[in-house]
Amino acid sequence: MRVSIFGTGYVGLVTGTCLAEVGHDVVCVDVDAGKIERLRQGVIPIYEPGLEPMVKANHAAGRLEFTTDGAHAVAHGEVVFIAVGTPPDEDGSADLQYVLEVARTIGEHMERPAIVVDKSTVPVGTAGRVSEAISSVLAGRGVDIAFDVVSNPEFLKEGAAVEDCMRPDRIVLGVDSAAAADKLKRLYAPFNRNHDRFVIMDVRSAELTKYAANAMLATKISFMNEISNIAERMGADVEMVRKGIGSDPRIGWHFIYPGAGYGGSCLPKDVQALARTAQQHGHQPLLLHAVEAVNERQKGHLHALIQRHYGDGGIAGKTFAVWGLAFKPDTDDMREASSRRLLAQLWESGARVRAYDPEATEEARRVFGEREDLVFCGSANEALDGADALVVVTEWKQFRSADLAQLRAQLADAVVFDGRNIYRPEDAEDAGLAYYGIGRGRSV
Ligand code: UGA
Repeated sequence: MRVSIFGTGYVGLVTGTCLAEVGHDVVCVDVDAGKIERLRQGVIPIYEPGLEPMVKANHAAGRLEFTTDGAHAVAHGEVVFIAVGTPPDEDGSADLQYVLEVARTIGEHMERPAIVVDKSTVPVGTAGRVSEAISSVLAGRGVDIAFDVVSNPEFLKEGAAVEDCMRPDRIVLGVDSAAAADKLKRLYAPFNRNHDRFVIMDVRSAELTKYAANAMLATKISFMNEISNIAERMGADVEMVRKGIGSDPRIGWHFIYPGAGYGGSCLPKDVQALARTAQQHGHQPLLLHAVEAVNERQKGHLHALIQRHYGDGGIAGKTFAVWGLAFKPDTDDMREASSRRLLAQLWESGARVRAYDPEATEEARRVFGEREDLVFCGSANEALDGADALVVVTEWKQFRSADLAQLRAQLADAVVFDGRNIYRPEDAEDAGLAYYGIGRGRSV
């Protein structure tokens, strides 16, 4: 099938590449000429496991084309995806200018019936607005061409995006016509293995499904962070509590890890946007506000633990090794990362930082700029050189196997602040380290 995809961000690039991988003929289009040129040369703008070889192979095979030419992309696609960004407006609602701009481009160049697919995360009702934008441009041109607008939200996770795209747990299609549903079912057939993964519904329900999924995930995390704060004060260990509740299948093991707060480009933005939409429609989203408030507070929790250890004014002049800057492992993404809050608070308290992240250093340089109280290190060990304490912010696998005795030997103050509970308090204490985890009251 001939497919065009507007937007070569995470969602657009991964979707386009995976569709090409299963044999479709894909054109990816972006307004960023530099990015398109680099993609043609096999330079991938993001770090995502498995993506680079797949882009290169499909590009070389002629199934994956990169262009800045919107007219060419519209002419090519029987199915045209909109996968451009929807950054938050000042008031937290999603900014639809890029989505609607693509809709107008589609209207300008459409010559035959097509299916337009909203893949970007967009508020309920956006498919209607995309449809109106296309129709009004078509009317201006004096032509009447039939088209469908489908909502097909994306559920891929950064760091596992290729895998999620090739093996989705569900494929949600919000459609107005049986013909559009059939066409998209054919497009996605190669991914629909083992059992039927299609969930077909009306357009608005599909749009809301996306927000409901991310808001539920954020709620689970904030809930566990709330429990971790209670555990900390009560001399309980939230890790035991987690094990104690996860075995109940109604609760489940996933997404109940307490930590330094959720970040990334999706959860924070989508909870905020859903709350905003609810308010605009006359509903006070009390739970969503609480989910956000708990997360805001949690992002400051590591610093609060550090302050508890060092006492008032005790942080000034100290040097902290910080392991992990990305908002989660296996990505170089720093958007809304908890490390940003921590570093700002450490600097505010007069501390210095020696930071190491396996993938996000370049991005972090861009975010933090050059400063004399920040040194980027080439390895986890190097970050420990001359450090007084260690803070783990992102749970990259390589940090899990750290030699605690060596940490004890290298850290002048022999203290570890474990923002993702990757070490066992008893192991750290046996090694002679003072240990602070999240919600681990017995060690505080
Ligand atoms: C999230 C959703 O998980 C995807 O299903 C969705 O498709 C995507 O947003 C999107 O809307 O595009 P992502 O932002 O890649 O994916 O990251 P997550 O894996 O959800 O992690 C988000 C944050 O939650 C991270 O900062 C992570 O450290 C934190 N987290 C996650 C916890 O603190 N505890 C947990 O138990 C799980």
